[in-house]
Amino acid sequence: MIKAKISIALAATIFSACSHALSPDATDGKLLYQGCGTCHEQALSPPKAPPMWEIKRLYERQAKDDATLVKNIVSFTKEPSLETAIHDVGVERYGLMPAMPLPDDMLNKIATYILEEEFPPPCDYWNYALTRAKATDKTEFERWYQRMFRRSCSGN
Ligand code: HEC
Repeated sequence: MIKAKISIALAATIFSACSHALSPDATDGKLLYQGCGTCHEQALSPPKAPPMWEIKRLYERQAKDDATLVKNIVSFTKEPSLETAIHDVGVERYGLMPAMPLPDDMLNKIATYILEEEFPPPCDYWNYALTRAKATDKTEFERWYQRMFRRSCSGN
């Protein structure tokens, strides 16, 4: 009996360590996010926007807590502006993002999904960006992409 209890507890621990279950809001947000993915999907060739991995990293650094991160993503998405944009390379490369004036509850769900999802490092994107940076002689970007690629895309 005790043995059974222990193995159930163990199974539960292993399960929760392996799967990062999304909250109900984030699960809804994942579906809605597909619209964002038409530009933010990292393997598009040619790319249309910075991958969400990079954006999330910048917003995590900027926001002091999860609620602020969600709020900042929602407000930018509704009304992008050069004053509030923090992905400077993205703005320079692609121009300012067009506004996505979806209802607040949808945007909140999308931003909650972005908060909870563990996006894989965008190796294809960095590889593409590196080639392009080399071709256009943008050495400061080249160094950055190279560093990110080496750090996060193992085996290359
Ligand atoms: C038509 C293409 C397109 C779609 C669709 C799109 N984006 Fe973007 N997004 C961009 C581009 C281009 C940038 C980089 C320029 C910029 O930062 O404004 C960007 C940047 C961003 C940024 C970072 C802004 C900054 O610089 O601080 C956030 C956050 C963002 N997008 C969220 C979203 C969300 C959420 C959705 C879906 C509701 C979405 N985007 C859909 C093109 C798109």
